[in-house]
Amino acid sequence: MRKQLLNIGHRGAMGHVPENTLASFQRAIDMGVDWIELDVYAVDGELICIHDDTLDRTTNGTGNVMDHSLAQLRELDAGDGQQIPLLSEVFDLCKGKVKINVELKGPNTAAPVVAFLEQQCQQGWSPDQLLLSSFEHDQLLAAKAMNPIFARAGLYYAEDPNFDFLVNTLEAVAVNPWVDDVTPELVDAAHAVGLQVLVYTVNDPVDISWMRTCKVDGVFTNYPERVGGNS
Ligand code: G3P
Ligand code: MG
Repeated sequence: MRKQLLNIGHRGAMGHVPENTLASFQRAIDMGVDWIELDVYAVDGELICIHDDTLDRTTNGTGNVMDHSLAQLRELDAGDGQQIPLLSEVFDLCKGKVKINVELKGPNTAAPVVAFLEQQCQQGWSPDQLLLSSFEHDQLLAAKAMNPIFARAGLYYAEDPNFDFLVNTLEAVAVNPWVDDVTPELVDAAHAVGLQVLVYTVNDPVDISWMRTCKVDGVFTNYPERVGGNS
């Protein structure tokens, strides 16, 4: 039997539906993903899902996310008439259906996200259904200090992963490299120190096939149907 390649819906199923919206997460669920990935900011004491630090690309608003109130942000159209979702809405949608990778994207999101996850784990979620990730490894360290039970993955872009930091300091479960940086040697080195390898963003079928050859553990994809099931 072929080793399972985890199918992780990137910002939902953003190849089909506007990213980081409830409709996008629902589409990814409908496509049978193992996980969804989303990007989080904290605004006015609420956690919301949006990728960029500005509104212009994905909404009908303009300017910096953090220069707006929650009420202003919730008035915006994030695509197809969808609101920028609250993280709590996404958790309600996904409960019992799919696991969630929360990427800490906005400033100072570690504390509110950990508090939120603790609350969710009182309400039916369990830590093994959750994964924290970030390019900002200090935020992941802050999350670990608050509550180490939530698994962590370090994102990297065009740089060599620091396995010593990931294993011994962050105590991460995974390293998440950019697709163009993946080699069989990198995957073997990660596995040798006990890290899973979750690769972003893998959309081209040739790349998906190459990731299988490299024996990565999972891929973030805008097109979950291209990764498919794991029979
Ligand atoms: O977590 C994988 C991927 O989402 C990281 O990059 O910029 O799409 O958030 P980005
Ligand atoms: Mg992301």
